[in-house]
Amino acid sequence: MEATQTYDAQLAEFEGRIARGEKIEPGDWMPEAYRKQLIRMISQHAHSEIVGMLPEGKYIPHAPSLRRKMVLIAKVQDEAGHGQYLYHAAETLGATREEMIDALLTGKAKYSSVFNYPTLTWADIGMIGWLVDGAAIKNQLMLSHASYGPYSRAMVRICAEETFHYKQGMEMIVHYATNGTSRQRTMAQDALNRWWWPSLMMFGPHDSDSPNSAQLIRWGIKTKTNDELRNEFVTEMVEQFNAIGLTVPDPDMVYDAEREQWIHGPIDWDEFWQVVRGNGPMNAERLAARRKAHDDGLWVREALVAFAQRA
Ligand code: 3HC
Repeated sequence: MEATQTYDAQLAEFEGRIARGEKIEPGDWMPEAYRKQLIRMISQHAHSEIVGMLPEGKYIPHAPSLRRKMVLIAKVQDEAGHGQYLYHAAETLGATREEMIDALLTGKAKYSSVFNYPTLTWADIGMIGWLVDGAAIKNQLMLSHASYGPYSRAMVRICAEETFHYKQGMEMIVHYATNGTSRQRTMAQDALNRWWWPSLMMFGPHDSDSPNSAQLIRWGIKTKTNDELRNEFVTEMVEQFNAIGLTVPDPDMVYDAEREQWIHGPIDWDEFWQVVRGNGPMNAERLAARRKAHDDGLWVREALVAFAQRA
């Protein structure tokens, strides 16, 4: 009986700390389910950052100016750093880097579905910065209030850098849409047509179909639901695209004057789950690229082990 009471008492104290807005730190007592949820979420977030470098990295050699090349190099490098912060945050919970990387490379772990779509023109780089990183910021600002200390602090640093990603993308698309050639304007609209719905899917399934949300909200890891974040994001982005004359590819979009919100049309969840399950347009290529990078880096890992053993 004593052990059960101890667990119940510990859980009550833990939830009291969450309710008081205290941060849970690596050495603190936490329910095993809390630790597992965080490892799942943070490691998949880290995978998303690393895989997320691939769609844009392809365009670094094709940037139309030295300035645009430098901006894109800086952004892609930032994403690599975000991945490192997040893998470290997951390691504070007892996950090992090897386990997490193995889960990604074997296809067991998820990463954000949005990175399984192809980048077809240079305008995609601007749209990814504005739309995809914009969605990421919306989500990550929320996570900067997460109850787990290392995660919330990683988010503060990441959001600061994401804001640069968002602004550089917005700058490009606004220029193309308002001062660009007709071809650039067409490219910007085409990029919006292809990246709009995958960006909405980044927020996850509807709340009614989100098995993890209730526990994450209860323990203060998420402080808003998938739909709350998505709806805020849609209203902000529709207003911005309308302001520069681009059309959001959603014929069912309506404006709710009472709630002052744009309400999006139905999301194609069949497409979403197909992509999440590995059947998206670029899933195989993305994992192949990660596996090749891992194999190509074997000699570095071996050299580090040999050096550590000699020391
Ligand atoms: N892509 C892939 N899988 C997704 C997904 C998506 N867009 N949305 C949801 N899923 C998965 C979940 O991981 C979960 O599967 P699992 O239990 O096997 O992990 C399942 O679908 C059910 O979804 P839930 O809503 O129950 O899952 P969550 O409560 O975890 O919510 C989430 C999903 C909103 C993505 C949440 O995990 C989260 O906020 N994660 C941290 C942020 C993150 O990972 N963002 C990814 C983008 S990072 C990025 O864009 C980098 C930037 O630099 C561009």
